[in-house]
Amino acid sequence: MYLDYWKFDRLPFESVPDPEFYYLSASHEEGLTRLIYAARMRKGSAMLSGEIGCGKTTLSMVFVRELPIEKYDIGIIVNPRLESLEFLQEILYQFGIKDIPDTKVKCLRALNERMLANLEAGKETLLIVDEAQILNEASFEEIRLLLNFQLNSRFLMTIILIGQPELIKKVKEIEQLDQRIAIKYHLIPFNLEETARYIIFRQEKAGGRGNLFSDDAVERIYEYTGGVPRRINNLCDLSLLVGSGTKQENVSKKLVENVISDGALF
Ligand SMILES: Nc1ncnc2c1ncn2[C@@H]1O[C@H](COP(=O)(O)OP(=O)(O)OP(=O)(O)O)[C@@H](O)[C@H]1O
Ligand SMILES: [Mg+2]
Repeated sequence: MYLDYWKFDRLPFESVPDPEFYYLSASHEEGLTRLIYAARMRKGSAMLSGEIGCGKTTLSMVFVRELPIEKYDIGIIVNPRLESLEFLQEILYQFGIKDIPDTKVKCLRALNERMLANLEAGKETLLIVDEAQILNEASFEEIRLLLNFQLNSRFLMTIILIGQPELIKKVKEIEQLDQRIAIKYHLIPFNLEETARYIIFRQEKAGGRGNLFSDDAVERIYEYTGGVPRRINNLCDLSLLVGSGTKQENVSKKLVENVISDGALF
């Protein structure tokens, strides 16, 4: 462990979706703003897409934390590779419903009841589907139908779809669904300046005593990772590990270069 060597309280570049470690780049901030807008304004549906590892799942957690819990009834599905009945059952399960029916009609009825009860209680119903690029056609159809649940032209549920870039293509193929998604946002990786700030931010959050990464090391990290947070984390973590093993004073470009060329990454 390099914690003692570099004097951190905890690991600075762990790839866990921890909202505490969340750095808001311009794009991440815009994504968050749009999700909050979709939920507050009852926009029906929103879609957040982005490259692998660029922070979608973590952003969704930050988003949920921003919402007042007493006003939102939230269901989160993270593994939606399900047949359509199972998909509806999973939605009910994630909303904490105990008696899960065994037919689609009954599931839809139970969901409708839940939405109306929430409405009565002054609560919003919010469904988040992560990894939505793996939904099958039938489940996309269920989502479209769920968006038909309206009362006096007010949506009874806000559905947020989150996924990798294939999601955009899949949704486009279902025009009726595509048209119903009022808000779309594509999260992009950090630029060089954001990468530099992110690396400093993470070290500070981990209790570090200052920035260990030289400017040209950060440039090389940005170049190699394309500013994708998960890739930055992996490279920075390994650089710190190798740097402590070889008793470096800081993380230089040469050290980063060695880590990249030793082939242990990705
Ligand atoms: N803005 C950010 N601030 C801090 N850490 C971040 C940020 N974005 C991503 N990360 C880190 O990168 C890791 C990957 O992020 P996350 O799992 O949210 O990406 P994803 O886009 O959902 O990836 P996938 O496409 O594989 O589902 C997270 O565990 C987190 O540690
Ligand atoms: Mg994810």
